[in-house]
Amino acid sequence: MKIIVPPIKIQWIKTKLVEFIISYVDFNIDWKWIEPFMWSGVVWFNFAPKNALFCDTNPHTIKLYQWLNEWKIDHFDVKNHLEKEWKILSEKWVEHYNHIRERFNQDWNPLDFIFINRSCFNWMIRFNRKWWFNVPFCKKPDRFAQSYVTKITNQVKNIQSLMKQNNWEFRCQDFRETIKNASKDDLIYCDPPYIWRHVDYFDSWNEQDEFDLHKLLTTFWWKFVMSTWHSNDYRSNEYLNTLWNDCIIKTTEHFYHIWWKEKNRNPVTEAIIMNYKKEHICEKNDKTIKKNILQNKLIHV
Ligand SMILES: C[S@@+](CC[C@H](N)C(=O)[O-])C[C@H]1O[C@@H](n2cnc3c(N)ncnc32)[C@H](O)[C@@H]1O
Repeated sequence: MKIIVPPIKIQWIKTKLVEFIISYVDFNIDWKWIEPFMWSGVVWFNFAPKNALFCDTNPHTIKLYQWLNEWKIDHFDVKNHLEKEWKILSEKWVEHYNHIRERFNQDWNPLDFIFINRSCFNWMIRFNRKWWFNVPFCKKPDRFAQSYVTKITNQVKNIQSLMKQNNWEFRCQDFRETIKNASKDDLIYCDPPYIWRHVDYFDSWNEQDEFDLHKLLTTFWWKFVMSTWHSNDYRSNEYLNTLWNDCIIKTTEHFYHIWWKEKNRNPVTEAIIMNYKKEHICEKNDKTIKKNILQNKLIHV
């Protein structure tokens, strides 16, 4: 299966988990896909639902996708912007990076967001409480290669082509607002910050958030699928046995590459939680997931 990669590079991205997640999604094409924690959006790009609502409290990722969805910018703008700014960056280095970062923190321009995301230290995405980007510069000359610009502009092109074919909306809002307004013909896919594993200001998550999310997802009639962590080398997610024990849970092994170095591969057992009783489908998936992935088929039951 060819995976569509988003135009922003982001830590904790689920690119390698897309097949695992999608294979358990029981989705009718007439329903609406609701994603309260959009982040990079890699799961829905690859699922490509016809009707969808994507939300997040991160105003920068939402604004970027809103602008692409409304065609305020396209891949030519991204190409021109990167070529122009990277040319100056290759002469002035950190001075120019800091200039663009400052401009971005004032204007919140999505083109500058793509630029700093691709020029900063290890492609980290991190903000302070005011949503100012605060990752420092990293000098890596290979970033200015024309092939790298082409790669990013192609990613933008792919996303916009999906946007053109489908009816998608993007909103910057809290998950409670998003889920409260869902209806019974919606499928909710959640990828919240993983409890006890996130510490950034912009991405904080506490027990009350986890309780609220559980209550909202399980009290009503809609179907949901949620990603979370099951365990790592040191501990387990205790909420799976307590809070979420009324749901179906499936797991898989996964490695997150944090600093893109072999020694920083973090082995994690990932979990997905579902509320609908489709055990036979889950069993079928377990047996056929590999076959279907090899044949480039998704399972829509
Ligand atoms: C771990 S990321 C999800 C990863 C993503 N789906 C992917 O695969 O690339 C969690 C996201 O939740 C968002 N978030 C944190 N708290 C939130 C809240 N209260 N309501 C909505 N979104 C929130 C963060 O901004 C972040 O984008």
